[in-house]
Amino acid sequence: MKKKALIFGISGQDGSYLSELLNKKDYEVHGVVRRHSVAENQSSRLINLKNIKLHYGDIQDSLSVLNIIKKINPGTIFNLAAMSHVRVSFDKPAFTLQTNGIGVLNILEILRYEFPKIKYYQASSSEMFGNSVDKDGYQRLSTPMIPTSPYGCAKLLAYNLVRHYRVAYNLHLCNGILFNHESPRRGSNFVTSKIIKTAVEIKKGKKKKLVLGNLDSFRDWGHSKDYVRAIYEIVNYKKPLDWIVATGEARSIRDLCKLVFKKLGMNYLDYVKQDKKYMRPEELKYLRGDSSQIRKALKWKPNISFEDMVEEIINYWKKNIQ
Ligand code: GDD
Repeated sequence: MKKKALIFGISGQDGSYLSELLNKKDYEVHGVVRRHSVAENQSSRLINLKNIKLHYGDIQDSLSVLNIIKKINPGTIFNLAAMSHVRVSFDKPAFTLQTNGIGVLNILEILRYEFPKIKYYQASSSEMFGNSVDKDGYQRLSTPMIPTSPYGCAKLLAYNLVRHYRVAYNLHLCNGILFNHESPRRGSNFVTSKIIKTAVEIKKGKKKKLVLGNLDSFRDWGHSKDYVRAIYEIVNYKKPLDWIVATGEARSIRDLCKLVFKKLGMNYLDYVKQDKKYMRPEELKYLRGDSSQIRKALKWKPNISFEDMVEEIINYWKKNIQ
């Protein structure tokens, strides 16, 4: 019989790449989507996939979660569902806590009482660290987690619940603390896609300016395709553990602007403006992850370089902006 996986948050960037990976590994892939008023947007990232089954549900709605799990009886659950935009979480803090925190609790309670054999992966985030950095300039599992956004607070709640339920009820629950990861499928309100898409629009004469917030924060950017490989390995490791997934390289938003505009034959200083509407009430300034644990134990490493990823996203937007 085929292995069955259930993905909450299948319609996002990572959900779509993970579905492709699981399809290749011959899983029967099920995904949960919330209703979207524009039906086409529901599954726009999944159009090339033939072997997935979609179900309506929401992790905020425990009964919908219970019914779907009962119906499918999956061997593995991947929870990638979240309100994933950090800046928006300052505007919708309660919704963010409900979805990213209590939504996870809902799934864990169902696993605890009804399905203790299911393996579970939780999408934890480097945003949980806030501005804590170890003396050597990296974040790792032992680095204090002091989040700087409602999003980070909610993710930390979920992270701690997963650790606690794992120990208290002896369940196979894993946290992957993923640092930022991008791709052509990244939503265009995240900074990488926003910069690259707008720079291409400027190059094509469709826009005059790129308006950003903080240019001097640093992020550790990898490729989503590499990171879903890590997710798969993490949940299938013999022991349920917590892991850091990162490239170990940090670059500023300014560095990214410079590179993208240069690749398009322009100087970013001529086009980039700042506006405080894109600034955050508290900014996470620096992320750089130490992923030595996963590199050693699971032989995982990123295959796609930062430059190649930027090139791929530029080419995607060049093709898709007429
Ligand atoms: N989105 C956005 N838009 N970010 C901007 C802008 C802008 O106009 N201008 C500057 N930035 C800065 C942000 O202040 C932040 O320091 C950085 O660019 C990255 O912002 P995002 O791309 O929105 O990502 P994020 O780091 O806040 O969050 C992402 O990574 C987390 C992992 O650390 C998201 O994918 C989260 O869901 C994920 O958990």
